[in-house]
Amino acid sequence: MSTKPEASDVTAPTSSRESSETLTITDNRTGSTYEVPITDGAIRSLDLRQIKVDEDDFGLLAYDPAFMNTASCRSTITFLDGDLGVLEYRGYPIEQLAEQSTYLEVAYLLVHGELPTKAQLDDWTHQIKMHTFVHENVKSFIQGFRHDAHPMGMLLGAVGALSTFYPDANKIHDAENRQLQTVRLIAKMPTLAAFSYRHNMGQPYVYPDNDLDYAGNFLGMLYKMTELKYQPDPRLERALDILFILHADHEQNCSTSAVRAIGSSLVDPYSAIAGGVAALYGPSHGGANEEVVRMLLRIGTKDNIPDFIEGVKAGRERLMGFGHRVYKNYDPRARIIKKACDDVFEVTGVNPLLSIATELEKIALGEEYFVSRRLYPNVDFYSGLIYQALGLPASMFPVMFAIGRTSGWIAQWLEMVQDPEQKIARPLQIYTGERRRAYLPLDSRS
Ligand code: ACO
Repeated sequence: MSTKPEASDVTAPTSSRESSETLTITDNRTGSTYEVPITDGAIRSLDLRQIKVDEDDFGLLAYDPAFMNTASCRSTITFLDGDLGVLEYRGYPIEQLAEQSTYLEVAYLLVHGELPTKAQLDDWTHQIKMHTFVHENVKSFIQGFRHDAHPMGMLLGAVGALSTFYPDANKIHDAENRQLQTVRLIAKMPTLAAFSYRHNMGQPYVYPDNDLDYAGNFLGMLYKMTELKYQPDPRLERALDILFILHADHEQNCSTSAVRAIGSSLVDPYSAIAGGVAALYGPSHGGANEEVVRMLLRIGTKDNIPDFIEGVKAGRERLMGFGHRVYKNYDPRARIIKKACDDVFEVTGVNPLLSIATELEKIALGEEYFVSRRLYPNVDFYSGLIYQALGLPASMFPVMFAIGRTSGWIAQWLEMVQDPEQKIARPLQIYTGERRRAYLPLDSRS
């Protein structure tokens, strides 16, 4: 049984509690007692610093590898209740947004805090469309990668490179400048992603078509060949838009924390978000959707599922697309994606891996190993099946995730740079190494 803290311990409550709430701590080393305030269900770690055994003592620290129980910011962007499987952007349930909204509307909501009016949405959409092109030298830059370079590696290099094309982006204290970079990032990410894909395919890059909507234009840049005008299937376009909505933000996850930490040095947003892309690349985070499809291909047939599950229980395997640091219930995004699968498969034909995935889910959810550890499908369990049905290779899956997550990264970066409580991120350590050793010249070392 996992001894990890429950999700409700991890996500800070939204409403302020009485500031008269306190915690009394008795230091059994000295017998001294301290009273520290509790605000919003949290104590400030710095309040522990006063707890010392003597005047020379540095003071008590909180030790929290992987930030299992440490809030690093106050945020009004995304609310998560991992126990109940609740996800809200700016207070709007993810189910409602996925059902009724478009990705650009959600991006506006994340960035500005409110759903746009019709006029605001038209203006926002126009601005994004006006910034979808990249400098021709970005194209040449991508052309310099090996033909088989991983598209996520190309994307992270290209996003970082954008900082050299927009050196003014380092004026991060200028609100208008921040707004311009926000629009550029959301607008250019699909273009960079599609160029990376076409590079792998050895096909000419396709320029954006601003007659098309956000997801449709992206499909066009991926798949347009000799036809004069690319016409996306509206069902695929909508499914892709929903996937972007579902991936748009997820509060202080690994890549968002990376964006905030890098951004806290006051670097430009392209450099900070390149760091987010790098974090998302890992198989424990955005790379998991790629690993899910590889895992399903390896399992091959339903008959092999019991053996595979035995391997997981014995610790030889990991069931990719299952488990989450915060969700200890069904990830609400996985439920919506599972539904979106049906719409996509209506156009593309059913992905044969779907039956293995659904059977795997069914068996896993009935197994004591998964039940006791509260491991449920996460957003990545089914998303790869849709991407694969759209004709994308597994290496493109984390890239798809990065496109959607860009609006969340930028919203979190905007919140961080305007938060007067934030400073450069700089955790402490507990040093366990050697001290004050006498230096030995090279020929004296045995
Ligand atoms: N398969 C098998 N066992 C698992 C899995 C899994 N997918 N996930 C967790 N466990 C087990 C662990 O072995 C551990 O068991 P133990 O208590 O016997 O040691 C227990 O469940 C707790 O797991 P931790 O690894 O401590 O949980 P943590 O919060 O650190 O990890 C993570 C979360 C990384 C997502 C993990 O569940 C995992 O690796 N899942 C597979 C990868 C994946 O799908 N990642 C995508 C996450 S969603 C996203 O980033 C968009």
